[in-house]
Amino acid sequence: MNFDEFYSIPHTYFSQEHSGGMEECLKKYNVPPCSAIDVGAGEGRNSLYLASVGFNVYAIEPSKVGADKTSRRAKESRVNVSVLNTDILNATKDLKDIGFAVALTSLEHMDYDYLLQAVKEIKRVLKPGGYVYALVFTEEDPGYKKDSSNASECASFIKHYFKKGELRELFSDFDILEYSEYMKIDESHGSVHYHGKAKLFAQKR
Ligand SMILES: C[S@@+](CC[C@H](N)C(=O)[O-])C[C@H]1O[C@@H](n2cnc3c(N)ncnc32)[C@H](O)[C@@H]1O
Repeated sequence: MNFDEFYSIPHTYFSQEHSGGMEECLKKYNVPPCSAIDVGAGEGRNSLYLASVGFNVYAIEPSKVGADKTSRRAKESRVNVSVLNTDILNATKDLKDIGFAVALTSLEHMDYDYLLQAVKEIKRVLKPGGYVYALVFTEEDPGYKKDSSNASECASFIKHYFKKGELRELFSDFDILEYSEYMKIDESHGSVHYHGKAKLFAQKR
């Protein structure tokens, strides 16, 4: 399966609620509505939320099915989202002065060398004082340990599981405002199990 096939399923996990962790950080640090990029927007749950609270959002999504779904859902919700149906390095070429970037479980879907370029590009498009929220799967995850019954729905697409401290290290030239590595319980499929994740909220100097 690839992401086009995955997003052809009518109701996936990615069509559900936006990230509560992202919302919490935006509120805690009083991030005002600004231009934002959603890197690997999927079916648009985070883009839609950001647009609904006043952000000017570019939803970057290489899957045509995911990008089309995001456009359709934005229209239905009557919010304005600029959907860019391409990968991050293409999408951001003409962008700058972005105030907020979110990458929710998307960086690990890139080959490692590409991922490093993507992080560099996220840093470039952000204006000084701009924020990034990133969430990634770590090597603690059942998917990394090849425990297929408890891996996430998209584990077979993951190209890079993050090591301890790796996400923080990638943004070490930013002010790290929040960073945690944790196990999160998942009761949605297989037996009750945990996923390994790392979460970062940081600000460009
Ligand atoms: C696990 S999904 C997460 C979707 C969304 N962020 C969410 O949480 O609902 C990962 C997404 O990253 C996207 N992706 C993979 N490679 C990418 C790249 N090079 N540039 C931008 N997005 C990419 C995939 O197409 C996929 O939609």
